[in-house]
Amino acid sequence: MKIVLWGLLCLAYLFADEGEVVFEKKCLSCHKKFVPVEILMKNFKEMNNTMLHLKAPTLNQLSFRLKQRIGDPRGDEDMHRMEVSAFVADYLNYPDKQKSVCIRAVLESFDVMPSMKGKLTTEEMEAVSNYLYDFETKLIKKKSIKYESFENALKKAKAEDKIIMIKATAPHCHYCIKMAREVLVEDEVRQALQKDFIVVSVDVSKGSLPLGLTASMTPTFFFIFPDKNSDKVKTKSIPGAWNKEDFLEILKEANIAKRSQK
Ligand code: HEC
Repeated sequence: MKIVLWGLLCLAYLFADEGEVVFEKKCLSCHKKFVPVEILMKNFKEMNNTMLHLKAPTLNQLSFRLKQRIGDPRGDEDMHRMEVSAFVADYLNYPDKQKSVCIRAVLESFDVMPSMKGKLTTEEMEAVSNYLYDFETKLIKKKSIKYESFENALKKAKAEDKIIMIKATAPHCHYCIKMAREVLVEDEVRQALQKDFIVVSVDVSKGSLPLGLTASMTPTFFFIFPDKNSDKVKTKSIPGAWNKEDFLEILKEANIAKRSQK
């Protein structure tokens, strides 16, 4: 029995993300994992950290800023991962606000991080740095709605009497990234989308939009209202990026437009 349990424990350890284990042991006492961006902004920009009383920037902040500010985010991913890893290793040994990637309003709330020199092995540094690198991307994936292909979306929208929303996006488009991490991951937005929409995402730098649609800028959101009994569709396009309240309003208006069509 003991041997079986021991074996299971070892397995669990093997499958746990090693970087996450290191982070929880050595960083979590100061760096919280996740706080929504909107709340972070309020805490740091308006309230000097008196709302959340954080001890350090959160992991979702760090992950985003590191990837944006260190090395070449548009270059080769392995190369970029190494650049970030080198920065993190250097920062853990020799922290110095002059090197910092965080915005000023955030940094002003903290003293410089204590050096962790000698407290992590090289492997642990590498693992924790990879964990930092992947955290934000994984988080957005996990919290965002599931995207469908347009063909599937059309079938589903007809069968379930829903609206298709197509997000026209492009890599490295600042406002697409902003919406993806600040708005589309919000519970209220995800719930509203899940309830009445089937969502498609098209990277317009790689492929073209269905139905001959064109986007003059990214992001652009297209709402497609399929007709149950024919191949006809009505479309409406909303270019630009929006905050949560405005985007929820746009979704509400799409619902009103659908109802008035019947
Ligand atoms: C005792 C608290 C504490 C612990 C433990 C700690 N940090 Fe920090 N860390 C801070 C504070 C405070 C800041 C913000 C001030 C600064 O940038 O030095 C910070 C900033 C950082 C930065 C950002 C530097 C920048 O460019 O702004 C990184 C990266 C970082 N920490 C990684 C880690 C990792 C990885 C661990 C665990 C191995 C860790 N920290 C453990 C307090 C801590």
